[in-house]
Amino acid sequence: MSSERFSIGILTLSDKGARGEREDVSGARISEMVQSLGQVGRYQVIPDDIETITLTLCRWADEVGLDLILTTGGTGLTPRDRTPQATQAVLDYEIPGMAEAMRAASLQKTPHAMLSRALVGVRGQTLIVNLPGSPKAARENLEVLLPALPHALAKLKGDPSDCAITDEPDTMGK
Ligand code: MTE
Repeated sequence: MSSERFSIGILTLSDKGARGEREDVSGARISEMVQSLGQVGRYQVIPDDIETITLTLCRWADEVGLDLILTTGGTGLTPRDRTPQATQAVLDYEIPGMAEAMRAASLQKTPHAMLSRALVGVRGQTLIVNLPGSPKAARENLEVLLPALPHALAKLKGDPSDCAITDEPDTMGK
């Protein structure tokens, strides 16, 4: 596994949070969970507004050059849940398996997991991951991806090593 440390952004989507009416517990939890992966270089709480979300994602990917952006919130079904639409607009391509893995694991915990429309994908060399908004849901989803993130991020940065030769030992106990 790569020991390289990655640059990370955490973007919390919350109208109430952006107005200062709600503490961003999810952002803090996510930050703790990615400590071993790298440095959180950008953190912001913004409203559930498509234009603001797309502008921030583009700036963080294209200008700041973050390796990983984790969004939290706005993946559900209310009229103000717009994170997946905004994310889709800026992605070069999706990585469906990562989003499917989060939903599959989450369905073991709650049937409401199927309501999250979270996307995972790539813009340039930046991996963008949507997480649901509650601290519990954000943690349960992120912990599914964590084992695969170092490899995914190293590949995005151009690691030319052959996966067939350098594959990690099976960590799933099989
Ligand atoms: N996934 C996990 N693992 N645990 C949860 O508690 N909550 C679900 C779902 N995904 C949940 C979860 C609920 S209740 C909703 S509405 C959707 O995520 C969308 O959440 P969001 O609108 O806060 O992004």
